[in-house]
Amino acid sequence: MKNIAILGATGSIGLNTLDVISRHPDRFKVFAVSAKSDWETLHKICIKHLPSFAVLVDEAAAESLRKVVPAGVEVLCGNSALDDIASHQKTDFIMAAIVGAAGLSSTFCAAQAGKRIMLANKESLVLGGSLLMRLAKKSGAEIIPVDSEHSAIFQCLQGGKEGLNKIQLTASGGPFLNTPLEKLSSATPTEACNHPNWKMGKKISVDSATMMNKGLEVIEANFLFGLASNQIEVVVHPQSIVHSFVYFDDGSVLSQLGLPDMRSAISYAMSYPGRLQSGVKQLDLTKESSLEFHPPDMKKFKCLELAYKAMSEGKSAPGTLNAANEVAVDAFLNNRVGFLDIPKIIAKTLNEAPSQNLDTLEGVVENDQLSRQIALSFVGSSD
Ligand SMILES: NC(=O)c1ccc[n+]([C@@H]2O[C@H](COP(=O)([O-])OP(=O)(O)OC[C@H]3O[C@@H](n4cnc5c(N)ncnc54)[C@H](OP(=O)(O)O)[C@@H]3O)[C@@H](O)[C@H]2O)c1
Repeated sequence: MKNIAILGATGSIGLNTLDVISRHPDRFKVFAVSAKSDWETLHKICIKHLPSFAVLVDEAAAESLRKVVPAGVEVLCGNSALDDIASHQKTDFIMAAIVGAAGLSSTFCAAQAGKRIMLANKESLVLGGSLLMRLAKKSGAEIIPVDSEHSAIFQCLQGGKEGLNKIQLTASGGPFLNTPLEKLSSATPTEACNHPNWKMGKKISVDSATMMNKGLEVIEANFLFGLASNQIEVVVHPQSIVHSFVYFDDGSVLSQLGLPDMRSAISYAMSYPGRLQSGVKQLDLTKESSLEFHPPDMKKFKCLELAYKAMSEGKSAPGTLNAANEVAVDAFLNNRVGFLDIPKIIAKTLNEAPSQNLDTLEGVVENDQLSRQIALSFVGSSD
């Protein structure tokens, strides 16, 4: 029996993880769950799964949950409690599914404690990739990707990396794939969050619409698989059936396919190196009218270009890119800036922020905070 701590249990990845766990009560136990403030959903989860710990970052939300929580569930509060459940000696696996840089500290704590980290929170790798990979190597922690593209590559590389030439991350292109650039200036948060294939949280939905999600994934792949930037390509594949490609020197190309349902990648991270029944329907390729592949339009999707630039610059640039993106996306979701202001704010922040080596977690956090301040100064003045 494996004890699982789900960080970000009330979100899209968290709820899908709970669904997979429910199918295998003989193999997995929900040991701990967390959310930021959504205590009502966390309450429902507690009733169904009876975890030992339920963590809420927000104090008032934790107080509300304490009044109604079933006996046996201890309610904890605050960011340090996230670190505690991630590194608890009874935790075997963590699902790192907090959105954004807020997931950094708990992911690092789990890495330090040698846990299996099922990594959905790509931002942890973008911010502190080399540090996190080094820490995991030292402690024996396993990092199993949950992003469907990285899970696909991870699965294709089970035979080893010998002769690996390059990888290609597939991208749906998001809701604005066929929208002309001139119409994007008036795109609304509702339109940006209306993803054609995946049902996801708001932040990652906007990231998919700007293609920053693919940019963050390029940087994630750089750290996870130890590849050079020119070995990581992006190909637009609107159907989201092929989850990525791995090219080898002998001309062979490996790929992993499946319906767009995160439970495949989640269940693989839970059962690796084996496989589990995940609840995902079987793919029937005779029913897919066509599978298309196109090069990405870097002029229209400037965020992808900025991510490649930040990856090449290295040092603190990927962390700065991520911080500026979080600030800009939040401002867009709150109608403070337009859709096309997002890449402008990120570009200006990258120009303004100092480039520095990040050798400690404290350094990573300081760079994140400084970059946020710089990005905030451009919100509202993004012409
Ligand atoms: N959704 C997908 O299909 C998908 C696919 C691949 C990778 N990912 C990655 O997985 C992560 C989660 O995505 P999602 O779509 O599941 O997000 P989501 O639906 O927005 O859920 C986010 C979760 O994180 C919690 N949270 C938010 N801010 C927090 C904070 N400051 N401190 C602690 N907890 C916080 C939320 O709690 P509340 O509910 O209380 O706000 C919620 O439980 C992201 O890094 C995303 O890029 C997602």
